[in-house]
Parts: sequence; structure tokens; C-alpha cells
Amino acid sequence: MTDPTQDPRFLQDPYPTYAVMRSKCPVQAVPTGSGGHTGYLVTGHAEAREALGDARLSKDTAAFFSDKGSRRRLHPAVAHTMLASDPPRHTRLRKLVTKAFTTGAVAELRPFITRVTDELLDRWPIGERFDFVAGLAIPLPVIVICELLGVPEDDRTDVRRWSGELFAAGRPDIIDTASQAMADYMTGLVAARRLRPGGSLLDRLIAARDGDDDCLNEDELVSLAVLLLVAGHETTTHFLSNAVLALLRHPDGLNRLREDPDEIPAALDELLRFDSPVSTATFRFTTEAVTLGGTDIPAGVPVLIGLGAANRDPEQFPSPDRLDLDRDTTAHLGFGHGIHRCVGAPLAKAEAEIALRAVLARFPALRLAVPPGQLAWRRTRLVRGPESLPLFAQA
Ligand code: HEM
Repeated sequence: MTDPTQDPRFLQDPYPTYAVMRSKCPVQAVPTGSGGHTGYLVTGHAEAREALGDARLSKDTAAFFSDKGSRRRLHPAVAHTMLASDPPRHTRLRKLVTKAFTTGAVAELRPFITRVTDELLDRWPIGERFDFVAGLAIPLPVIVICELLGVPEDDRTDVRRWSGELFAAGRPDIIDTASQAMADYMTGLVAARRLRPGGSLLDRLIAARDGDDDCLNEDELVSLAVLLLVAGHETTTHFLSNAVLALLRHPDGLNRLREDPDEIPAALDELLRFDSPVSTATFRFTTEAVTLGGTDIPAGVPVLIGLGAANRDPEQFPSPDRLDLDRDTTAHLGFGHGIHRCVGAPLAKAEAEIALRAVLARFPALRLAVPPGQLAWRRTRLVRGPESLPLFAQA
């Protein structure tokens, strides 16, 4: 069985491959690359939505690996996160997080996001090349999540490094060391915040533990803090860079948002649909045999739900390869769907809105500094985004 997603051209532009796969069969067997397992890749929108809502598909990664007899033991901080849990544990964790992570908490962060965005953009040398990924898209989300969690400024470089390493696909040794370091750090941070509570999200999560019967235990607190960092970092990085790249390649859209920046919030969902950061796949595991999109899938195998592929399904989004700021995007799956739908979506959107407003306002003449074909893309199955995005701006 060949894996079309390993073709080098796929990294540059995966959508033609997805289109061919979808037209043959919207749910098909592929090698997963993890322990030699065969998995099933979902490329159709209806099938992806169905899979995301199907309780027979589990998120319990630790249970899957132990059933498969894998000797790899995931650290509790990554093995039992909310995102790697099924109900009833997931329901309980999610309830406590949504209590603490409110829209009010995101609104309070907006002035901070604006200040950090301005500080980062002040370093952009006018008339010279600027790497948008290293200069803004990587630091902004991690600084914002660190602020949200109350991570002191001096520790943010370490946190950023571990977070990047957790995403380093294909190197279990690096991932294990980074998750251990991150979990140790977060354990210390939780202990410190207990002694001197503040007003951060972490403090609210600790209070949810202490002040409520339905509380978070120590492992759950630590794993939640790690999850927020990991889930909220690279996804948002690639949202920002993919959105800027998409606009640069669609000058009509760019000019429209430049002329009326108040259209930016409404444009974010189409930008997310067009080039989704969680693109190739989010995972589930079958707990029993299921039939999805006419394909029989046995029990105990990974199902890779291609959110990026689903978001380009012409059955759902006519002319899907066109960035269309007027289209109805309510059904896009960029933030997932169902019980695991992204809890950080309002925060990610606030960051993207503020960053796009600032970039468009500051730089009336903005262009790619290299031909699009020369951009290097991240080599991971989890997220999709360029390694770097060299831009050239004139004031
Ligand atoms: C879940 C995408 C930003 C925290 C998810 C899922 C997706 C997603 C697709 C569901 C995965 C699945 O069902 O398997 C994104 C994208 C983002 C983003 C594209 C940026 C544009 C954030 C941010 C945070 C965050 C900023 C937090 C600070 C989470 C958490 C979950 C999650 C905690 C797990 C929810 C659960 O299991 O119930 N995200 N995310 N995300 N996201 Fe995000």
C-alpha cells in the first residue's frame, strides 16, 4: 500500500491529492506511519463530520497503544489529557475547563495580545526581509498562552522550546523528554500558584479543583496546562501564517480586508477553511467494527480524519479551492466538531484578528520575498504550515 501523503509535492499542496483520494473513496486504508499500523483516512466532509460525532471512535490514545502491546508508555501529562480522553472523563474535564476558560477571559486578554503584536511587529525592519513565522506567528501564541497560564517571563523560552519539541513528529525520544520537562515545570508552577494565587487561568483551574467536589486532581491540572500550551501554540502559529499566505496569494481578498478591516473577524473562518492548520489528520481509534462512507473499518485501528481535506470537499463547499470571503463557512471543520471541538477557538480568532489588523494597517505594500513554490512546509502529519514565511514590506 503506497502512502500518497509521502509524495514531496504533497507538502507543498496536499489538496489535489485529497481530491483524487476523495473521488475514489472518501474513506480509505492508508499506512499510518506509527508502528506500521494500517489506518483509514477520511477525506470527505460528510464522512469526517460523521466520524467526529461517532462515540464508537475513541480518543483514548493510551488505551490504544496498550491494547496493541506497545512498550511505549506515554507520560501521564500527555497520556490522559482531555483531548486524549473519552466520556465520562472527557465530559468532566471539559466542564471544568469551560468554567475557567470563558469568553470573558479571552476578552480580558485582547489588550495584552495587541501590545505583544505591536512589540513584535516593531522589530520588522521596513524595506528588509522579515520571517513572519519566526517573527510573529511562533512567538505571539506562546507568549499569549504563557500569559493566560501565568508562566513567568523568564521561563517562556523553555516552555516554547518544549512545546516545539512535543510537535517534533517521528522522534519519540525527543517527545518523551520534552513532555517530562514540561510536566515537571507545570507541576512546579501549580505548586507555586497554590502558595501565591493570582488571577490567571491556571489559578481559576486550581480553584475549580479546590473549591468544588467535582475537582481536578494534580495530574489532571498539570496535563491540562500542558495541553493548553501544546494545543494552542502551533495550531495558532500556522493559522496566522497560512492566513497571511492565503491573502498574499489572493490580492482581491487582501485589498478588501485592508480597505475594511472590520471584515476581518468574518473572514477568519474562510481563511481557516481554506488552509486548515490541523490539516492532514486528527486521530480516533475504532472500539468496534464500523462502516463509514461505505467503507468497512475493523475494530482497533486508527482513523485519520482529514480536516483540511474535508474543508475542500466540493459537495460541501462549491469551488473549494477558491478563497471566497463571502461563502457560508458555518460547516467548516477547522476547529473540529462534536465533543472535542476546540475550546481555544475564541482565543485563536482573537489573536488572528488582532495580528491581521496590525499587519494590514502597518504595511500597505506587503509581498512574499520568495516564489510560493520555494516555501518549505512542516514535515508533520499533525499540522500544516510553512517552516518560514519570508515577507517584504514597505511602509
Ligand atoms: C481541540 C484546532 C487553537 C485548545 C481542537 C481540535 C481541533 C483544534 C481541530 C479538535 C481535535 C479533535 O477532535 O481531535 C485548533 C486550531 C487552532 C486552535 C486550528 C488555531 C487556529 C487552540 C488554542 C487553544 C486550544 C489557542 C487553547 C489555548 C484546545 C483544546 C482542545 C482543542 C484544549 C481539546 C478539546 C477537547 O478535547 O474537548 N483544536 N485549535 N486550541 N483545542 Fe484547539
